[in-house]
This record gives sequence, structure tokens and C-alpha cells, in this order.
Amino acid sequence: MVSSFAIKAITAFLSASAVSAQQIGKEQSETHPKMTWKRCTGKGGNSCTNVNGEVVIDANWRWLHVKGGYANCYEGNKWNATACPSNAACTKNCEIEGADYSGTYGITAGSNALTLKFVTKGQHSTNIGSRLYLMKDTNNYEMFKLVGNEFTFDVDVSQLPCGLNGALYFVSMPQKGNGIPGAKYGTGYCDAQCARDLKYVDGEANSEGWNESSNDQNAGVGKKGACCAEMDIWEANSISTALTPHSCAPEGYSVCLETNCGGTYSEDRYAGYCDANGCDFNPYRVGVKDYYGKGKTVDTSKPMTVVTQFLGSGSDLTEIKRFYVQNGKVFAQPEPQIEGMTGNSITQEWCNTQKNVFQEKDYPFNDHGGMASMGRGMNLGMVLVMSLWDDHYANMLWLDSSYPTEGDLDKPGVARGECDIGSGVPADVESKSPNSQVKFSNIKFGPIGSTFAQPAGT
Ligand SMILES: *[C@@H]1O[C@H](CO)[C@@H](O)[C@H](O)[C@H]1NC(C)=O
Ligand SMILES: *[C@@H]1O[C@H](CO)[C@@H](O)[C@H](O)[C@H]1NC(C)=O
Repeated sequence: MVSSFAIKAITAFLSASAVSAQQIGKEQSETHPKMTWKRCTGKGGNSCTNVNGEVVIDANWRWLHVKGGYANCYEGNKWNATACPSNAACTKNCEIEGADYSGTYGITAGSNALTLKFVTKGQHSTNIGSRLYLMKDTNNYEMFKLVGNEFTFDVDVSQLPCGLNGALYFVSMPQKGNGIPGAKYGTGYCDAQCARDLKYVDGEANSEGWNESSNDQNAGVGKKGACCAEMDIWEANSISTALTPHSCAPEGYSVCLETNCGGTYSEDRYAGYCDANGCDFNPYRVGVKDYYGKGKTVDTSKPMTVVTQFLGSGSDLTEIKRFYVQNGKVFAQPEPQIEGMTGNSITQEWCNTQKNVFQEKDYPFNDHGGMASMGRGMNLGMVLVMSLWDDHYANMLWLDSSYPTEGDLDKPGVARGECDIGSGVPADVESKSPNSQVKFSNIKFGPIGSTFAQPAGT
């Protein structure tokens, strides 16, 4: 028994190390932009201390070139077949580079703020959007355990039109990313769509069988995908916003293959083991059309503070609450204004009600464990993601317009925002609104009630 265990352990070690060593290029050193945030104790946001953090851009955005040379291993939406005849050869032959954050990617960090620009014309290429992770130090992501805690940040979405999504969310990524070069180069991403657009999955290239996207000159889909639980605190532009847990079983990082991945990148969206849709709270979608937007109760033409509370303890997540603070006034998430739905926070019961009221063909949140599984995902520790993106699959209409586009507008759940169903086409937003941007700042984290002055009885 003992020796067979030992052999197993050695095999596992060898296979893990064999697939996880990516090569690191020497053209550009990797220096993470610094970003401070606050850890709070006590009450009302008055006892918070600065934490010196840093951010890293995801590996997918980086230059991949032939080892020791300048020829591309990946260009546009294709792999170089000479350098990448197989995943193993590709992993050996290609090097990943450090990032010029502002010059290439339009990313600027300053004290406690991070600004992501949409389109950046660099010396060698035009960059679209970005995705960054908050780090504890050079080689480790900061891990957040959300249950029993409150996460607060300021955001300026005033320069995000229809079709864009300035997102702040959490995923159950591994703290050190994948293998070498690990978190330092932004590896290890996973989410509840079981991302298959990743050039590397679990430390190995995803080049075999890669299909280039038909409408995205920078992206494609590989055979492997990376899945894990996802808590979308903030998917938003100046028109709409959604707060959305997505459950997965298992909750932690796991690799899927081809159509079994489900999600956005697979033929059958519901074939995988994650909830691709989520149990979302979008005020407009639950009938409160005058709450969020330019000139509305929460006015998106100005910066705002967004507070999210995760009630419960350990892995037992019972409720997700939302508040906004603007001009010194606190606004609770509004009560739904459609028949059959009550409650201004997300609970398992609220999701069950949403399922009944919206009557969609599929409601996968509960199939993968619902709130209970979300709580378990949180208890693994989650990584903070901040991103800006446009949507080559559904033009972001699920967030800010009517979706499905052919749906009856009188049916609850179809109307999600004021954008036209013809809006959000990536080619249009990239050419018409290249200077769009999102700014996140003033992040605070601590026990419930520690990051802001919560009005009594709310
Ligand atoms: C593909 O990689 C080979 C080396 O494996 C290199 O010689 C060639 O220039 C690359 N092709 C392109 C289009 O970059
Ligand atoms: C690429 O497209 C072909 C043809 O549609 C399909 O058979 C194959 O599964 C696709 N590969 C991936 C990785 O999706």
C-alpha cells in the first residue's frame, strides 16, 4: 500500500511538472503596477489600514514568441503551426513576455486606483480591453474569503457606453497561478464559462485543434477550458449593472475538454459543470427602470461607491446584499417591481423565485449547487479580477438591452437595459468608442459593517 501510494505521488509530481513549465522571455521585464487597498476592522469605515498590493495582467494578453527569437508563436487569432505542432512542443518552443502596462495595454495604476482603457494603439499592435488580478506580492495572488465580509470600491462607469463591461469580480483561481511562470505572469485564470479562449491551460499550451474566432481578430477557442466558481460583484456600464453568483461543482480550478466544457465557448452552453447564466440581480431586469443610469437614483454620470455584503460564516453563504453610496447618501438595492418577486438581496430563495418568475428554459444555478456551492467556492479563497471587455458572442445584450433579442418584452426577465438590440457589436464599439474606460479605486475589505457607515435597520 505504502509503495503504491509513493509511486502514484511521484507520477503525479512528474506529470504536473512536465506540463507546467512555460518558457519566460527576456525582451521585457515584468514589473507590476502598484495599487493599495484597505483592510478594515471595527465599524463604519473608520478603522482601515493600507495594504500595499500590485496588479498583474492576464497571460492571454501577452506576447508569445519563439524561444530566443522574435517570430510570433501566436499572432492575431492563430498559433504558428511550425512552432506549435502539439501542445507539448508549443509549450517548449514558445516564450511569454513581460508587459508594458500603459504603452501596450492602456493600464494605469496610481495609489489606490486602476484605470483600464478600451482601445490602445501600441507600437506593434492595437490592444482591446484587459483583465487584471490583485496580488499579495510578486508571485502570489491576494486571496479573499468573502463569506462574513464586505467588499467596497469606488467606480466611474461614466465613459462606458452600450456594449462595454467594466467588470470587478472574484474567481476561485489558484493562488500561485499555474506552474511556471505562475501568478507573476497572470496565469491560472478560470471562470464559470469554463474559459476555452485561454492560450495556456494548467501550464500547457492550448494550441491543438485551436479554431480562430470568426469575428474577433485576437481570439480563438481551444480544446481545453478552465472552470471555477465565479462571483460577479460588478458587471456594468453606464446603462446597466448586474450582481451575479455563478456556481460550479467542483468549485475550484478544474480543466474541461471540448464540448463537455459548456459555457459561452461551447456548442451546448449547459453541458458543463458550471452555471453559465448565474442568479443575477440587475435592477432594470427586475422592473426597477429608474434606479441605475445617467441622471437616475444612482447616477452613472458620476463616480459611486459600491458595497457588497456576503452574509454567513465559513462556507455557509446565506445572503448577498448591495448598497450604493453617492454624494454622501446611501441607497439600498431596490425591491423588485415585477409580479411574484420580492426581496432586495440574493438568497437561495430569491434565486428559486427568479427561476419560477422568469420561466427560462434553463436555470443552471441550482443544478450546480446554487448558493451552497457558491459559499464553498468562496471558502477556497478567491482572486479579485478587474477587467474591461466587449462581447463577441452576445454584444453584451444580456446586460444592457433585451435578451434573448427575439424575446417578448412583456415577459419578465427579457428587458435588461435601455440599449438598442443592434448595439454592442464589437466592431462598432471599438471603432466608435475607442476611448472608453473604467476606473476602479478605493477598495476596502473587512467584516460586515467595517467598510462604510451602514444606516441602522438596513
Ligand atoms: C513560426 O515559427 C517558426 C519557428 O518555429 C519561425 O521560423 C517562423 O518565422 C514563425 N512564423 C511566423 C509567421 O511568425
Ligand atoms: C474546430 O472546428 C471543427 C469544425 O467545426 C470542430 O470539429 C472542432 O471540434 C473545433 N475545435 C475546437 C477546439 O473547438
